[in-house]
Amino acid sequence: MAFPATRLRRLRSSPGLRGMVRETRLDPSCFIYPLFVVSGRGVADPIPSLPGLCHWSVDRVVGEAEEALSLGIPAVLLFGIPEQKDELGSEAYSDEGVVQQAVRALKQRLPELIVITDVCLCEYTSHGHCGVVVNRQVDNDRTLELLVRTALSHARAGADLVAPSDMMDGRVAAIRAALDEEGYAGVGILSYAAKYASSFYGPFREAAFSAPAFGDRRGYQMDPANAREALREVILDVEEGADIVMVKPALAYLDVIHRVREAVHLPVAAYNVSGEYSMVKAAAARGWVDERQVTLEILTSIRRAGADLIITYHAKDAARWLRQGDTR
Ligand code: PBG
Repeated sequence: MAFPATRLRRLRSSPGLRGMVRETRLDPSCFIYPLFVVSGRGVADPIPSLPGLCHWSVDRVVGEAEEALSLGIPAVLLFGIPEQKDELGSEAYSDEGVVQQAVRALKQRLPELIVITDVCLCEYTSHGHCGVVVNRQVDNDRTLELLVRTALSHARAGADLVAPSDMMDGRVAAIRAALDEEGYAGVGILSYAAKYASSFYGPFREAAFSAPAFGDRRGYQMDPANAREALREVILDVEEGADIVMVKPALAYLDVIHRVREAVHLPVAAYNVSGEYSMVKAAAARGWVDERQVTLEILTSIRRAGADLIITYHAKDAARWLRQGDTR
């Protein structure tokens, strides 16, 4: 039946009707809030490249996580910025590292908070690459050993999920085997399964002081032109024992999120990365876009593409706006 019997505008005529037939819902329960932890005490330093976010010392990060939790955000994703960086990123797998201390503090004070840890070496290495550099190349298998040590130290500290973001081959299997062997069968793996060599990570690298000192990450992160390869990455991670698979970044890769959603039955996460966030902030600061509406539209689009979970720096703002009531 076509026009005039069919009129799609009928169901758009009031907020009540639009709300009833809305296909995609956004709720803080699908948000994961990233936090940057630094050493020291009493530190809450604003991050210039990520307006609205701070570097937190361990004693201060608890309050920030508590606020997120009180807004209905169930989970945080921790990144550490160490005091000292070295060739082998040794602070990444030290039991006294900032992330390990933060996990212990968060789980002690907020036991119901889901604590996820980023497992990677790039914030910890002096050269800024995600692994062990041999002849100016990142050596896959030597890196695996260090990633395993990092994941184990996070599990010992009490992390609920570890999230490897390095893109080495075989890391999920290696981490799963080590966790099981050491008595951490209950700790899950959220794998950055399809992580692209993207220029949208710029503000994060500024925040984490982790831009590579030479070369780039194209030898291990994926080519933005490839989508079928993303499915190979995802399927391998599922076979290796991932509990949740992630696509990163989100906005320029909505098609990839959609394909992954169709291909697997695991929960799918999408990382609404730093560049995506800071572009909205910068445009909103100039009055060029309405920050609230644009943010909610972006987050809805990521859910519509098929993501169950969204890692986003907008989490607290979006949770507040959703609490005030969606005005669409
Ligand atoms: C670590 C890591 C990065 C991000 C998350 N984990 C940086 C990178 O790969 O260079 C980027 C997150 C963001 O841009 O928000 N490997």
